[in-house]
Order: sequence, then structure tokens, then C-alpha cells
Amino acid sequence: MSLTVYLNGKFISYEQAAVPVEDRAFLLADGIYEVARVYAGRPFALDGHLQRLARSARELRMPEPDLAEIERASLELLRINNLSDATIYIQVSRGAYTPRTHAFPAGPITPTFLIIARSFTANVKLWEVGIKAVTVPDQRWARCDIKSVALLPNVMAKQTAAESGAQEAIFVRDGFAIEGSSSNFFAVLDGEIRTYPLCNYILGGITRNVAIDVARKLGYAVREEGIPVEALGRCTELWVTSTTQEIMPIVDLNGRMVGNGCPGPVSAALHKAMRELL
Ligand code: PDD
Repeated sequence: MSLTVYLNGKFISYEQAAVPVEDRAFLLADGIYEVARVYAGRPFALDGHLQRLARSARELRMPEPDLAEIERASLELLRINNLSDATIYIQVSRGAYTPRTHAFPAGPITPTFLIIARSFTANVKLWEVGIKAVTVPDQRWARCDIKSVALLPNVMAKQTAAESGAQEAIFVRDGFAIEGSSSNFFAVLDGEIRTYPLCNYILGGITRNVAIDVARKLGYAVREEGIPVEALGRCTELWVTSTTQEIMPIVDLNGRMVGNGCPGPVSAALHKAMRELL
């Protein structure tokens, strides 16, 4: 049975879903997106994702998306497609106009609006064994707090990781390891949990918030402060957080073992506590 998606107010089959070739997301990466996770048929932290989508739209001066419509349509997609464990991908572009111009088109804006919900199975094994990561220079723009579809530096970084036999690339900016190519970055340094502070250089991850909350509830000290690259070798644990990876331990960074080369107790405790929330 074909997947049903939601495009510009209509539930249609995946095969029929099409956007004009001059859509600004296609030509100019002029669009924003969200990825939310669904567990046993229920979206996790959907409101946080919707609020972040609305913020991205405001920051890019796009029309405010109708969040109630997105929520309704997402739940309906889960029902129609009979999904239990899944991801919901939401994308809003500034729309399709001709001729191509860099500046916003004159006249009314009609965004292109897409939701795809599809089945998702986490790679449980990776939580047990951890992942490898490499550091790469951060070549992104200075508004990484906006979840835009302009992901080329992230694509290149992830490819660098893949070609090094690693699963994630950690961006380094001004001597600090700040976030992953599709995740936020955490470390245990001198007995404290560290993660880069919220600012324009990183995405305010929904899972980052959850991880910080559960860590504080479990009594861990969390310092929202950058991790200097030269301190990475002293960190007893490293991990990344994201909607799809949850809390994922890094056991090897740039070919060097992290801690004793196994997922550490802090990330395991946080992940267990997070899983209980789900
Ligand atoms: N990526 N930082 C970046 C650059 C990201 O792309 C993501 C998520 C995160 C983590 O955010 P959250 O916890 O809200 O998922 C941090 C998604 C999953 C993606 O692009 O597929």
C-alpha cells in the first residue's frame, strides 16, 4: 500500500505528491523543517518541535505555519498509514514563484507545506556499542539556531564522517567542539556534564533539553559551556543527542578511544531515564 503524505492541505499518495520545479526550497534552500519521533503511535515532544518550527519561520520572515493544522495532519497521517514507531518530517518552504529571484517574491506568499510520516526502527545495537565520530571545521553560516533545509555543510561533514568509518561529525568553531552534523554534543569533563550554550551557532535541540532536564533530575551537575578541543582527550564520556539517535554514546573520536572505549555510565543513566519518559 502506498504511503499517504500531506502536501499543501491535502492527503495524497506519495507517488502523486509533487511540487513545482521553481519551489524556493529546491532552487534556493529557502525553507525550514522539523523531524519528530513517534513511539507506539504517540508523537514525542511534538509541541517543542512545532514551537521551534514557528520560531524558524519568524526568524526567516515566512508566514507563521498553522501549528494546530500540522498537529492534526500529523496524527491523521499516523492513523492512515497505520504507523506505530515512526518519524514525522515537516517542511515549509517560502513557495514556488517565477521568475527566480533571491529577494522575497513581490505579492502574497504561498508556502509549500509538506508532512511525511514514515516507519522508523532505531538501531538499538548502536546504543550498546556506541559510535565513532570525527571533528570537522564548522563551515556553516552564523544562524544555526534556525532549522533550515540549507544543510550542505552538514551533508559534507556527515560524508567526511562516513568516509572515515564514523557515524557522526562534530563541528569545531573557534577552538570549541560545539555540535554534531545532525545532533547536539555533550561531554563529561572534570566530573561535570558539559554542552555548548544555546546561541546562534547551534540548534536548540529538543533532545538536548530532555537530556539536560533528566541529568539535573538525576543530580548531575550540567554546565552549558563550550568544550575546548584540547580538553576532548580528557573527557571521560562523550555523546550526542537527537530526535532519531536519542542519547548516543561516542566511544571513538578521531580514532582515539573515549574513556575505556565502551559507552559510559552517565550517558547510560540519562538514556535510561529518557526512555522511562517515553
Ligand atoms: N537533526 N543539531 C543539528 C545540526 C541537527 O540537525 C539536529 C537534529 C540536532 C538535534 O535536535 P533535536 O534533538 O531537536 O532532534 C542538533 C534532525 C534529527 C535531522 O536533521 O534529521
